[in-house]
Amino acid sequence: MSTTNLASQAEDTPFVEFWNEILAPKFFRFKHVLVGGLTKHSEAIFPTLPVKKGDRVLDVGCGFGDTAIKLADLVGPEGEVVGVDCCDAFLDFAIEDAKAKGIENASFMRGDAEVALPEGEFDFVFARFGTMFFANPVAGLRNMRKALKPGGKMVHIVWRNRADNPWLSMAKDVVMEFLPEPGDDAQTCGPGPFSMSNKEMVQTMMKSAGYENVEHRRVDAPVMVGNDVEDAIEFQLAIGPAGEVFREAGEEAEQKRDEIVAALTEAINKQKISTDGIAMDSSSWVISAENPKV
Ligand SMILES: C[S@@+](CC[C@H](N)C(=O)[O-])C[C@H]1O[C@@H](n2cnc3c(N)ncnc32)[C@H](O)[C@@H]1O
Repeated sequence: MSTTNLASQAEDTPFVEFWNEILAPKFFRFKHVLVGGLTKHSEAIFPTLPVKKGDRVLDVGCGFGDTAIKLADLVGPEGEVVGVDCCDAFLDFAIEDAKAKGIENASFMRGDAEVALPEGEFDFVFARFGTMFFANPVAGLRNMRKALKPGGKMVHIVWRNRADNPWLSMAKDVVMEFLPEPGDDAQTCGPGPFSMSNKEMVQTMMKSAGYENVEHRRVDAPVMVGNDVEDAIEFQLAIGPAGEVFREAGEEAEQKRDEIVAALTEAINKQKISTDGIAMDSSSWVISAENPKV
């Protein structure tokens, strides 16, 4: 198993550079929080995915490759899964993990889904929390549709609104009491995690990208934001909306670190704490759609 680059891949965009240089190391550090939490949202729908033995499946923004590996099991040895991601470190991990698990029907490919994906090859396209970062979402969603065979199906999972996702929004509210909102020139991973939370807007995007039978289904799940309060604070200050405010504030954030940590400790201590860690509520949309048959 190895990675291939999509042939038509242009130079990395600033978002792709940001994923590789800034976010990937943080995602590795907090893999226990991220994969554990995100899995709650895919586990809920995996048994109902329109995938059958022998299918060819594309997993877009596959990250550490865990969903690609599960999809490889669903399609069986006669089927095949391709995971695509713009981040080298995630792909390297996914390749090693698939090898260690003896998975022979999954391969991984480096590519920017907004620029190009393989065309017309897949029965099913999947993305778990990979599409909200597209700077041009209709272009990315259209490339995903064009990757499908006529009549092929897709499912992508995105976060619902801030209010129903305190695991991401609460810490930002706390941090914002101390630091300014990042400016227009902030370095980011692309539009934020809530960029596809508006159902009507995403229905319009999906239709503009050429899909039909677009449906939204809500999934709610408590996620672990850390093994303990300290882990949860480090996670919040590294990744997500609070992490972005903290990172962009630079020196000012470091000067106020103690005050911010004290405020976050108070807020996190009010959450559900057990021996498993700190649990907070999260909520996603599972969006399903079809590529027209002709
Ligand atoms: C929040 S992570 C989710 C990863 C994985 N799907 C999961 O659920 O654990 C978003 C992923 O999308 C990838 N990504 C972001 N923009 C992308 C793009 N334009 N093309 C391909 N991958 C992208 C990132 O590198 C990252 O692995």
